Amino acid sequence: MIDLRSDTVTRPTEGMWNAMNRAPVGDDVFREDPSVNALEEEISLLFGKEAGVFVPSGTMGNQIGLKVHTQPADEVIIDELAHIYHSEGAAGGLISGIQLRPLAGIRGVLSTGQVKDAVRSRNDWDPHSSVVALENTSNMGGGTCYGIETIRDLYQLAGDYNLALHMDGARIWNASVATGTELKEYGACCDTISVCFSKGLGAPVGSMLLGSEKKIKLARRYRKILGGGMRQAGMLAAAASYAVNHHFEKLVDDHRKAKKLAETISESVFFEINPDDAETNIVLFRVVRGTVSEALDWFASRNVSMIPFGGNTIRATFHFQITDNDLDQAISAVETYNGI
Ligand SMILES: Cc1ncc(COP(=O)(O)O)c(C=O)c1O
Repeated sequence: MIDLRSDTVTRPTEGMWNAMNRAPVGDDVFREDPSVNALEEEISLLFGKEAGVFVPSGTMGNQIGLKVHTQPADEVIIDELAHIYHSEGAAGGLISGIQLRPLAGIRGVLSTGQVKDAVRSRNDWDPHSSVVALENTSNMGGGTCYGIETIRDLYQLAGDYNLALHMDGARIWNASVATGTELKEYGACCDTISVCFSKGLGAPVGSMLLGSEKKIKLARRYRKILGGGMRQAGMLAAAASYAVNHHFEKLVDDHRKAKKLAETISESVFFEINPDDAETNIVLFRVVRGTVSEALDWFASRNVSMIPFGGNTIRATFHFQITDNDLDQAISAVETYNGI
C-alpha cells in the first residue's frame, strides 16, 4: 500500500538503524546520555537557541512549551486549526489550567492585526493573555507556511504586550525548505519552539523543545513530572540526528511530489483544490461529487491510502519513502476516478 495518510508512517532506513545501533547511551534523566546531550546541543545550535530538551513527542514539546510560559487562568492566542487546539486532548486545561483563544486565520496562519485585537486588557475579569502560539507549517491548514516577516512582526507584537511566542514547529523543516528561511531565523523570532524528528524527517520517535537556558531548565522538570524523562534514549537521539543530517535535504522532493499530485487533483471534476495551496508536503482537497469514503475506497483499491480530514476533505501527505513510482500510481488513481 502506498501510504499517503501521514508523514509519521516512515520506517527507519538501514543507515538510521546503524546509527541507532552504534549510539553511545547513558541515563538521560541523570543527563548522562552522550547521544541525547549531543543532539540537544546540535539542534539548539541549528536554531540559535540557548538550550533544548529531547521529549518523546510533539504534543509533549508543545504542552511543556505552554506550561513554562503560563500560570493557571492564563490565555493562549492560537489559530482555530492548530494541533494544540484540536488534537492534544485539551491538555492545556489539564496540565497548565489555561484557556485557548482560537482565531480564524487564513489556512492556519494568523495575522498581526488579528493577534493584536485578541490581546486582552488587564481588568480583573479578563483572562490574562500570556502566549501567542503559531503552528508552522499548519497541518490542518494544508502545510501552509508563515512568512518570516509575519513571524518577526508577531514576535515584536508579543514582546510589546509582554506575551511569549511559542512555535509549534513540528514541520518547521518543511517551512524552512519551502520558504528558503534559515532555521536560525525562526529561532530568533520565538521564545520557545517545539520541533519534531518523527514527521517528514523520518525518525521513529522524538521531538525537542528549544528556548532559553532558564525556560528549558524548567521544561526539563516538567518533562520528568509528565513521565517523559527517558533513560538510555541515545538510540532515539541518534536516529533523530541521522534524520536531520540525511533527510532534511530530501524534503524538497516531497514538496515537488505534493504539488504534482495537487495539480492532477485540480483537473478532476470530482475534486476541488487550488494547487498553489500545496506549499509543502501536505495536500488537502475537497470531494465535490460523491463522498469522501467512495473516493478513499477507490484510492485503496488502487493501492493508495489517504485519510479523511473532516467534512468533505481528504489529506494526502508526502515523505521520503514515497517514490516517484508511488506518485505515478497515486496520480493514476486520481485520473481514473470516475465517481464510483
Ligand atoms: C502540527 C503538529 N504539531 C504537533 C503534533 C504532535 O506530534 P506527536 O504526534 O509527536 O505528539 C503533530 C502531529 O501530527 C502535528 O501535526
